[in-house]
Amino acid sequence: MHNIRIKTQRLLLRPLTVADAEDVFEWVSDERVAKYMVYTTYTDMEDVREWLSFTGQDTSTYNFGFERIGDGKLIGSGDIGRDEDGECWGFGYNFRYDCWGMGYATEALKAMMEYARENFGARKFHASHCEPNLASGHVMEKCGLHFVGYGEFRKLDGSCKMRSMEYEG
Ligand SMILES: CC(C)(COP(=O)(O)OP(=O)(O)OC[C@H]1O[C@@H](n2cnc3c(N)ncnc32)[C@H](O)[C@@H]1OP(=O)(O)O)[C@@H](O)C(=O)NCCC(=O)NCCS
Repeated sequence: MHNIRIKTQRLLLRPLTVADAEDVFEWVSDERVAKYMVYTTYTDMEDVREWLSFTGQDTSTYNFGFERIGDGKLIGSGDIGRDEDGECWGFGYNFRYDCWGMGYATEALKAMMEYARENFGARKFHASHCEPNLASGHVMEKCGLHFVGYGEFRKLDGSCKMRSMEYEG
């Protein structure tokens, strides 16, 4: 597990651990949050624990919990990591539904990108979102990426397939 901690104005980005399972379950079990994510809506806390223990061992991406500094509450999570080609960096994020629309995703993504630039020499970023998920595209644009074309989104279990919008920056 990495031990990176990044502070922004309102958030502490820090490694996720199995002890976060209950907090994480609050949003990954929410269909409104899971709808455009690659995972399917979680229904069992044990699956969240399993994911968290795997994520702690994954060395290809840096996973973060997003903790609100004001009250210490974990309100979302995300990751950033080098793509297989070794040049481009990808990222993702998701937040509790009651925390949407407050600029948290933009704040967290800017911090992860800046950290990757300064510490790992990241220069190129690539990301995508399901076509209807325009808020995510807006976050990417506010972080300096631009739309480059359409692609295909698939959930990990293949249960959903739709057009994606691809971004680079
Ligand atoms: C996508 C998500 C991470 C955005 O988080 P957030 O903290 O609400 O994002 P921010 O507040 O930083 O920015 C969202 C921007 O999109 C805009 N926006 C919101 N809904 C929108 C919509 N339907 N169409 C266009 N723009 C929209 C907001 O106004 C805001 O822009 P502004 O700051 O210029 O007003 C959050 O909605 C979420 O967790 N969704 C579920 C998981 C998910 O889909 N993750 C992304 C997968 S690619």
